[in-house]
Amino acid sequence: MAMESPFKADVLKGKVALLTGGGSGIGYEISYQLGIHGASIAIMGRRRHVLESAVASLQSHGIPAIGLEGDVRKREDAIRVLESTIKHFGRLDILVNAAAGNFLVPVEDLSPNGFRTVIDIDSVGTYTMCHEALKYLKKGGPGKDHFVGGTIINISATLHYTASWYQIHVSAAKAAVDSITRSLALEWGTDYNIRINGIAPGPIKDTPGFSKLAPEEIISKNSENVLLLKLGEKWDIAMAALYLASDAGKYVNGTTLVVDGGDWLSHSRKLPKEAVKQYSRAVERRSRAAPVVIPNSKL
Ligand code: COA
Repeated sequence: MAMESPFKADVLKGKVALLTGGGSGIGYEISYQLGIHGASIAIMGRRRHVLESAVASLQSHGIPAIGLEGDVRKREDAIRVLESTIKHFGRLDILVNAAAGNFLVPVEDLSPNGFRTVIDIDSVGTYTMCHEALKYLKKGGPGKDHFVGGTIINISATLHYTASWYQIHVSAAKAAVDSITRSLALEWGTDYNIRINGIAPGPIKDTPGFSKLAPEEIISKNSENVLLLKLGEKWDIAMAALYLASDAGKYVNGTTLVVDGGDWLSHSRKLPKEAVKQYSRAVERRSRAAPVVIPNSKL
């Protein structure tokens, strides 16, 4: 059952948001919720069919939306996508960095290139998007009373608060993202009144991330631990994004909001190493080929 939003429908009226990875999973739900609360939406992603289906769905809900193909690992794509957003909507108020790469793999099977690939997407990609978006998010100079500039939300994780099995690459990448959030909040919060925050989702059902981190093959060998998980919904993450993007969060800067039902406090579940080794690449291939399911779609 779809939960009703506690926010007023016009809370983001007149705002323009750009979301990387906004075409599927948590990114799509944030696009949808920002959109039905008044924002115009540009989504950036690598797969054209995912973008097309997400844009059609957003538009079917009356949300002004465009899809822009691009890879956050390429600076020229970041520049082009930002320029296209400005050309189409005339401004940028909210940047959400939701693009991420993930797969389960034991360290001994993860090549340095595999490690680098996730750092490039999550950490360097987030930095690149923020860096190139600055000139559009600046809306005034320093001033101590109001955060008048735009705002950035970086999607993080809780894996690195402790240590997580077979997630060394993602844990390192998200630790860097959290650090980027704090450094930007200090510099740009002071100099340009731009707020930069993060959201660290816990295990969220019906997402590509969860189906990669808890694929059927592994759940079946590990059902006891997985059953202990308290799963969240994409809606929970989108509500946190609305809070941070709207004036409800106008005094919040440099924080990463954990939205996980307290899950990370008991982070020590052990996954079966042999199953991870056996299935990691198969799950990765399946996830790339999977059709994108957009639950809110009227199509
Ligand atoms: N296990 C071990 N290594 C893997 C792997 C797996 N499941 N999947 C990819 N790799 C390694 C590759 O072997 C390669 O390293 P190598 O050159 O030393 O062999 C490296 O990672 C890059 O792989 P490639 O397939 O070229 O990368 P890509 O750019 O096409 O894909 C991914 C990037 C792998 C991170 C991909 O999962 C991705 O982008 N997924 C979409 C988003 C997503 O997963 N979202 C969920 C977020 S929680």
